[in-house]
Amino acid sequence: MSHLLPLSRVAKLVGQPRHALQEMIRGGVLATFDGMVELDELLRVFPDVKWDDDAEFRRVQEIKDKAFAKRVLERALPDKDVLVARLNALGNDYAAAKALLLHYGNVMTWLDEKIDEIEEDQSAETRHALHTVRAFLLRNLAEVPPDAVQAQATIAQERIFKIMSAHVTIQPSGHEFYVEGNDTLLEAALRNGVSLNYGCSNGNCGDCKARVLSGEVTKVHAHDYVLKEAEKEAGVVLLCAYAPVNDVVIEANVAGARDIPVQQLTAKVKSIEVFNPHMAALHILAPRSQRLRYLGGQSVDVSIDGVKGRYAIASCPCEDRHIEIQIPRRADDAFVESVFGSLKANDVVKVEGPFGEFVLDEDSPRPVIFLAFGAGFAPIKSLIQHAMSLELAESMDLHWLADEAGHYQDNLCRAWADALDNFNYLPHALTDDPEAVLQSIVMDYPDLHRFDVYAAGTATQLEQARRHFVAEGLHEARWFAGVMDT
Ligand code: FES
Repeated sequence: MSHLLPLSRVAKLVGQPRHALQEMIRGGVLATFDGMVELDELLRVFPDVKWDDDAEFRRVQEIKDKAFAKRVLERALPDKDVLVARLNALGNDYAAAKALLLHYGNVMTWLDEKIDEIEEDQSAETRHALHTVRAFLLRNLAEVPPDAVQAQATIAQERIFKIMSAHVTIQPSGHEFYVEGNDTLLEAALRNGVSLNYGCSNGNCGDCKARVLSGEVTKVHAHDYVLKEAEKEAGVVLLCAYAPVNDVVIEANVAGARDIPVQQLTAKVKSIEVFNPHMAALHILAPRSQRLRYLGGQSVDVSIDGVKGRYAIASCPCEDRHIEIQIPRRADDAFVESVFGSLKANDVVKVEGPFGEFVLDEDSPRPVIFLAFGAGFAPIKSLIQHAMSLELAESMDLHWLADEAGHYQDNLCRAWADALDNFNYLPHALTDDPEAVLQSIVMDYPDLHRFDVYAAGTATQLEQARRHFVAEGLHEARWFAGVMDT
């Protein structure tokens, strides 16, 4: 009986990023069947992986031992109805497997008796053959091969994953993610950078309606929005009120930059982080009842006491209520002076947006070069984090050409490079000859036609860079520019 696993679950089991497995599939190293991996194939390709079937149980125990606040503990574990439904499904699987084993046992007993019955009238040669077959079957049933022990550990690990999380595929876009803890489908999608339609996020507006194509979901939050009977029969649910019981396929639209409406919200300052005299970050916390919908790389207008500025967002859409903008210090700018001077935590700010179409092409499987000129690092940071949460690119290289503010988040970039096999960080010091730096960068990519390039800086810097990249083979259509001086 074959045991098929989705690729993203295999990635979790073997501790490899999904793009690394996709590379193995493309190279013919790992075989798939309808996008799934057979357990035997998994064990063949990863014979040395140590299957630690206690890891997830230990994680739960640690959460308890550390005596997290009740709310944190509740978030880490699936909703109790979801847990019951998942255990129920597991129980059914176990019962079916046990019934099948019983049946195989009965067939073996019958075969044993049948051999006894028919061997009496047979020749010595046939009796010998029948004995050989019986001995072979009994010997193989008595000995559990080492492969089976490893398969058992893998299945046990996978079952624990299935209790703690469920896999979601969004159609027609093909986005995939896991719903973990007591997240709803909507919360998990946003956490994974998938921009689904929604409005209130608390069951009132109906904007998050989507259809369940396969799998089972259950309501985990009450909602005031009333679904029509025909919608319910068609499998329509509210993503902000439902969680998956098992692996599900959902039909829902993933928003592009033009689909997300401009929103206005009143938020609070969480903190101000002054990196150096030239650069600061403003961390804003959106209200619980109204998050800001945006995509990595977009901008917002922020106003404080009527003084307004438009800035690129530096945070990831997957960061729940947190919005970060980075603000270079400019002379005679009242907004900038208030950020560097009088603004403090809990002050009220008004946010309007998002604006702009400097966003990821989520359909592109190409390797990516990110090019940040000075404060252009802000939208690039947002794009990188968004790409990471979507596990999008095969490889990502960040070239950061410093201005007077320097590489003010150098440690963060180095931490990304340490943590991710497919991320390279290449800082370039402030120079009076940017043309030479750009030329040296493009010369490192003899196969530029394979890449997407996302660049952020002033219009002049971007035009200069575009000429170098296109001259060395980059397709014009794969150049994405975020202009910072508008
Ligand atoms: S987002 Fe409003 S009902 Fe779900």
